[in-house]
Amino acid sequence: TPLEAPDFTKCSKGTNLNTGQPLDVDCCPPVTTEIIDYKLPPVTKMRFRPAAHLATKEYVAKYEKAVELMKALPADDPRNFMQQANVHCAYCNLTYDQVGDSDLKIQVHNSWHFYPWHRWYLYFYERILGKLIDDPTFGLPFWNWDNPKGMVMPAMFVNTSSSLFNARRNQIHLPPAATDLAYFGTQSVDTTQIISNNLTVMYNEMVRNVQTLEDFYGAKYNTGTQPDPGPGTVERGSHTALHVWVGEATSTGEDMGNFYSAGREPLFFSHHTNVDRLWTIWRDLRGSKAKDFVDSDWLNASYLFYDENAQLVRVKVADTLDNIKMGYEFQKVDTPWLKSRP
Ligand code: C2O
Repeated sequence: TPLEAPDFTKCSKGTNLNTGQPLDVDCCPPVTTEIIDYKLPPVTKMRFRPAAHLATKEYVAKYEKAVELMKALPADDPRNFMQQANVHCAYCNLTYDQVGDSDLKIQVHNSWHFYPWHRWYLYFYERILGKLIDDPTFGLPFWNWDNPKGMVMPAMFVNTSSSLFNARRNQIHLPPAATDLAYFGTQSVDTTQIISNNLTVMYNEMVRNVQTLEDFYGAKYNTGTQPDPGPGTVERGSHTALHVWVGEATSTGEDMGNFYSAGREPLFFSHHTNVDRLWTIWRDLRGSKAKDFVDSDWLNASYLFYDENAQLVRVKVADTLDNIKMGYEFQKVDTPWLKSRP
């Protein structure tokens, strides 16, 4: 049977996956009794997700304002910034029992839940921000790290007086350091080399090393599956490398380099908006080949999120397959890695 949405009353303190020790923070969400089965609302206005490095001053001001308002919500409002950060912690750090197998926990990473779960996470985060500034067209910016022009921490996140700033980052990776998609602890000093290597990494993850659907999405994970059956190419590679690259240079890597704290980093959401965009690009590249699992264990898997009205909703993987139906689109930019066959 598919993974079922967790029971929020069965949430316990999780595990710090970097140390294996019990977590010293409680990231369980507020509990409510009313849960609605979510239906994608009809799309009247499309949300536009710009490349972070191309965003206008007006856009940045709007985004900063929205995050500021999110941080100012009451601490127990599920739409509050810290509550939203904890959503990531709760679904990753082994806090929820699997419904139907209470011996096992839920962990949405390193499996076929990676793309759909994060898509829903961003979807509601974006709608909450849009509602706070009363802008139904607001879309999250993507960190365009697969394009040489985006291979540096986007400026809007580095401004110390902005709501998008976070102090807990590796200080030697602030601009102008080139983002290293193969980073696992040491970075080459040669920027030209890093950039050309990044393009090869992208080509490998998006084209060369993805024969089967599992290669891209990650391994099957149902009720009864042990957490961590195995990640897809992008999750394992560039995605994780950048988490580690952004976080503090310590063994626990806060904020971005540790599951429980990653959602406290405003840059996280732009990082994942790019992962989300790469999913859409990959589906388009598949042409007539299968783009999605037809397995009902995938399509019927469900999760719970609080929506922009603080209503708890149950969502399904089947509704994530088309971002246009979900009401958002990405700014079109070049994908030079397509020509970087090694
Ligand atoms: Cu939920 Cu990039 O991790």
